[in-house]
Amino acid sequence: MSALLTVKDLRVQFPTRTGVVDAVRGVSFTLGRERLGIVGESGSGKSQTGRAIMGLTPPHATITADTLNFDGMDLLDISAKERRNLRGNRIAMILQDPKYSLNPVMSIGRQIVETLRTHEKVSKAEARKRAIDMLAAVQIRDPERVFNLYPHEVSGGMGQRAMIAMMLITGPELLIADEPTSALDVTVQLDVLRILDDLVRDRGMGLIFISHDLRLVSSFCDRVIVMYAGRVVEEIAATDLQNAKHPYTRGLMNCMPQISNDRHPLPVLDRKPEWAL
Ligand SMILES: Nc1ncnc2c1ncn2[C@@H]1O[C@H](COP(=O)(O)OP(=O)(O)O)[C@@H](O)[C@H]1O
Ligand SMILES: [Mg+2]
Repeated sequence: MSALLTVKDLRVQFPTRTGVVDAVRGVSFTLGRERLGIVGESGSGKSQTGRAIMGLTPPHATITADTLNFDGMDLLDISAKERRNLRGNRIAMILQDPKYSLNPVMSIGRQIVETLRTHEKVSKAEARKRAIDMLAAVQIRDPERVFNLYPHEVSGGMGQRAMIAMMLITGPELLIADEPTSALDVTVQLDVLRILDDLVRDRGMGLIFISHDLRLVSSFCDRVIVMYAGRVVEEIAATDLQNAKHPYTRGLMNCMPQISNDRHPLPVLDRKPEWAL
């Protein structure tokens, strides 16, 4: 099987007044049409890895890689215009908080329609129909009504679904979901995950699911890479997590509260300086 995405030795550095911050320090993985989880604590470089693939690295940062290839295209070599095209069309990213991704002064329906029409030549009527179908696909019950609402008029969970609809309207082949459910209630989280899961299965998308929650990721993904201090410390099949070797991964697992055996106090994650070498 040829990979949809190949990442080899990806590095992202931020120059700061106090020196260079190495946000991503040589990350490598490949992705097919499957669900890959990226887990790690806050600051481990998950978002910057996703953004580098998406082409959304802040302009003052330096990004290098031996390979950053999407479906035969060298992402570090193509023009800014080609990159923008890919970004709207074939690669999409869902961010943690829909507030930052939805335009507050435009109705939800119009945003989805405009996203579609900048990437595909379709009539207004056709675009409207597809937007409403997409809202229904993300399980919004009354899509015709929600089409006309503004982002502030819907709940957080509904806003998140509307954003997913907007990201998926162009039929991307690769979806990067960066903590897409962290801002949501637990019940809504599960709904959103189920929607993503169905879409991956039905459309044969590749999915990179970023989360700090190892339990969530392992229940939802095929494969998990565990990041610590900008590096991949372990890559493992989700079903194999019980056999994780790296002490950091094991630590993340032990930090997961278990309903059946109540532990007080919760263990504190022990970090060894050599993991960050
Ligand atoms: N604009 C920036 N300037 C300097 N450092 C940054 C910037 N953005 C992110 N970083 C640093 O990069 C590292 C990785 O960040 P990030 O990828 O956002 O982590 P995660 O998503 O795993 O929480 C962090 O140490 C963070 O402080
Ligand atoms: Mg992040």
